[in-house]
Amino acid sequence: MKNSALFKQMKQEGEKISMITAYDAPGGRHAQDAGMDVILVGDSAGMVVHGYDSTIPVTVDDIVLHTKAVKRGAPDTFTVADMPFLSYHGSIDKTVQNAGRLMQEAGAEAVKVEGRGTVLDVTKTLTEAGVPVVAHLGLTPQTVGVLGGYKVQGKDAESAAELIDDAKKAQEAGAIMLVLECVPHQVAQMVTKSLTIPVIGIGAGRHTDGQVLVWHDLLGFTESRVPKFVKQYVKLSGPIQKALKEYNRDVKTGRFPEEEHTFSMDEMEIKELYG
Ligand code: KIV
Ligand code: NA
Repeated sequence: MKNSALFKQMKQEGEKISMITAYDAPGGRHAQDAGMDVILVGDSAGMVVHGYDSTIPVTVDDIVLHTKAVKRGAPDTFTVADMPFLSYHGSIDKTVQNAGRLMQEAGAEAVKVEGRGTVLDVTKTLTEAGVPVVAHLGLTPQTVGVLGGYKVQGKDAESAAELIDDAKKAQEAGAIMLVLECVPHQVAQMVTKSLTIPVIGIGAGRHTDGQVLVWHDLLGFTESRVPKFVKQYVKLSGPIQKALKEYNRDVKTGRFPEEEHTFSMDEMEIKELYG
C-alpha cells in the first residue's frame, strides 16, 4: 500500500496523485482495481448517498460504517476517512476517540479535518498520537453556514494570502496532505509550491499535486446540475433509469422472467408430487 512518505516523494518527482471518494465495498473495489492512489470516504456521503442537502447531519457512526465497507473492497488502497461536522471540536479526548474509531474500528489509514485556527491544534494532537491527518482548506463544506454558501474561496489578494498562510500552518502542525477546494488556480499553484506535502485539488485547477472528485459526480449518477469543476466521465443515470423502466415494464407485461431465468423439476419428481 502507498503511504504518506511515498505521496511526498510523488510530489517531489512531479507524479500526480489520484483520489476519488467511495462509500461502499463495490466502490472501494472499483477504485482499487482502477489503480487510484487514495480513496476518500467523504462526508459528501451525506449528500450523494443519504440524500441530505449538506454534510452537517453526517455522524461518526455513518463514516465508520462506510469506511468499513470501503476497506472490505479496497484493503490495499490508502484510505482517508472524513471527520464529520463537530466531531473534532469538543474535548480533545472526544476528538481522539472519534479519530480512533475511524482508524481502529473502521480501518482508515488517515482522517481528514476541515478548517483552520483551533483545527491546527487538533491536527497537531492527532499527529502526535500517531493519527495521520489530511487537512482541508478553501471551500470547507462543513462551515457553509458561516461562509454563506458554496463559493470560490481566496479570490482576493488578502484572503489568498491568508489561505497560503493557513496551508503552511497545517503542514507545520503535521498534516500529511492537503485537500484544497474551490480556489482560483493561481492561488492553488502558490499553495502547492509553498508546501512539501502533497496538495490535492478539487475545483483548484491543474497545478496541484493531485486531484479528487466525488464518485457520483464523476460517474454521472445525478440528473441535477453538477459544479463547474466536475468532469462527468460517464452519465450512468441514463442507462440506470432505462434499465429500471424496462424491468418495471417486463414485470408488468410478464415478459420477465423467461425460461432461461427459471428453475425446473425433473418429470419423475413432478409425477411423484402430483401422485
Ligand atoms: O466529502 C468529500 O467528498 C470531500 C471531497 C469533496 C474533498 O471532502
Ligand atoms: Na468532506
